[in-house]
Amino acid sequence: MSKPVFKDIDLSAQPKRQMHTPPDSPEKTTHMEFPIHHKKTDSVGSRHSRQDSRGHKKRASLEHNLTIPLSPRGTSHNTIEVPALRSPDADTTQFMHHLSASPSTKERRVSRNSFGAALPIPKSKRQSRLSSVTYPTEEALKSGKASPPLASREILTSQVQDVLSHKVKKAKNMAFVFDIDGVLVHGDRLIPEGKRTLEMLNGDNQLGIKIPHIFLTNGSGKPELARTEQLSKILKNPISTEQFIQSHTPMRALAEYYSTVLVVGGEGYRCREVAEEYGFKDIIVPNDIIAWDESIAPYRVFTEEERASSRPRDFSKINIDAILVFSDSRDYATDMQIIVDLLRSENGRYGTIAADPVSQRIPIYFSQGDLLCPTEHPIPRMSQGAFRIGLEAMYKALTGVELERVVYGKPELATYKYADEVIASWMDQLHGEERVPQNVYMIGDNPASDIVGGNMYGWNTCLVRTGVFQGGDNDEENPANFGVFKNVWEAVTTACRKELGDDFVFKWDERVVNPLLHDSHAASAVEV
Ligand code: G3P
Ligand code: MG
Repeated sequence: MSKPVFKDIDLSAQPKRQMHTPPDSPEKTTHMEFPIHHKKTDSVGSRHSRQDSRGHKKRASLEHNLTIPLSPRGTSHNTIEVPALRSPDADTTQFMHHLSASPSTKERRVSRNSFGAALPIPKSKRQSRLSSVTYPTEEALKSGKASPPLASREILTSQVQDVLSHKVKKAKNMAFVFDIDGVLVHGDRLIPEGKRTLEMLNGDNQLGIKIPHIFLTNGSGKPELARTEQLSKILKNPISTEQFIQSHTPMRALAEYYSTVLVVGGEGYRCREVAEEYGFKDIIVPNDIIAWDESIAPYRVFTEEERASSRPRDFSKINIDAILVFSDSRDYATDMQIIVDLLRSENGRYGTIAADPVSQRIPIYFSQGDLLCPTEHPIPRMSQGAFRIGLEAMYKALTGVELERVVYGKPELATYKYADEVIASWMDQLHGEERVPQNVYMIGDNPASDIVGGNMYGWNTCLVRTGVFQGGDNDEENPANFGVFKNVWEAVTTACRKELGDDFVFKWDERVVNPLLHDSHAASAVEV
């Protein structure tokens, strides 16, 4: 029997929670081991505090001798810090032999860059989230598009669910976690099986039951409500913010630690909006800096419209506390220039160059690390991971030292732990039971994020062929433990058959369950 693959990580600092899948569950499929090299560490509470160069209190972090800031309230009551899966070291080390301007002689020095080996996530999944659950409109009901009316449908479903209570129990003991890009959509284009799959899980099935599912995407760049509304339209199924996690969603926890932040990426100023919703107090975007001094970005054509929506001020008088790359950069040249300027500066003060590039460096966080993203274009496009690696290389070439950074998103443990909270909360909304079902299925198209993360977390993993993965029988490095499927419908129906029986019907048919017609024969009728 495989052991839990996060076994090497000391989770003693985390609140105790029932894991959804017992380590020695007889039903578990084989999980692949993933090389995690974290040392056993002190718990959060046992970290010592000390002063940084500005006299602020800092804590020694879990490894790498990094220091992390104390939250403004001392010990945070609203966040938990989850050990990082990935090393804070830049990924470019292996590529950097000939690139550095002053290579090899500098040893690693103590840096206060980031949490190093811990990613804070919100303790509660319900923090200021705006619900976007939608229900059929009067018009839809009248036109018959949302039939049958809720009341009669409820009566029918409760009757069939009474008769088939053993299947109901199993349906409430499973959950699906959907990747979005490459599984349900390509950019703004629907993958047709995605719509049908969601209809079935939303009740168009033999039991008329909502089978729990959440969405866990490395996508980003918009407030959760805006993105769920957009996806609801594309997928023609209601998607609530309460069942939705973008790559930057757990990063709201960082608002407890940093006040003045540079937020990078995304269309227009949507990421400023995201950061505002997350509670960051003082938010700066690259255009604010260009509007202050256009010569910072020599290749940028800065429009009057952009100037009008910018918020310039004298950035030579402000210390930026942290850089948060929330989404894909829309202008690599400008964003990289500004980020490198700040990383090289003295404590985030624009226009300075730190004497020591490490100890005075401000932290940088990325919301996810995917190299590629499937889009409408036939060949997947470069994503935030590619941007980050370029940045790491530039930074190393210019300073001679590695960039230490933190990367959220799949396959980070922090993201999966947060997903667990969201599943439990969504179960509560759907079925009045706040718990994580035992059989969780991750449906993804990217072996290096969806699948490896799901495997490590003890979930069943399904790899689909509609996105990044275009390989053979299974991915060689990160094989999906439940299998590889043509599309999301094939994956979900296979999982449902395993949990609910081969005879499970993927269609609600009121004629079959109408009690007026079938009465005491309902049980045998619905099982046909
Ligand atoms: O890699 C970028 C992002 O769009 C991927 O999203 O839904 O496949 O995790 P998703
Ligand atoms: Mg994907």
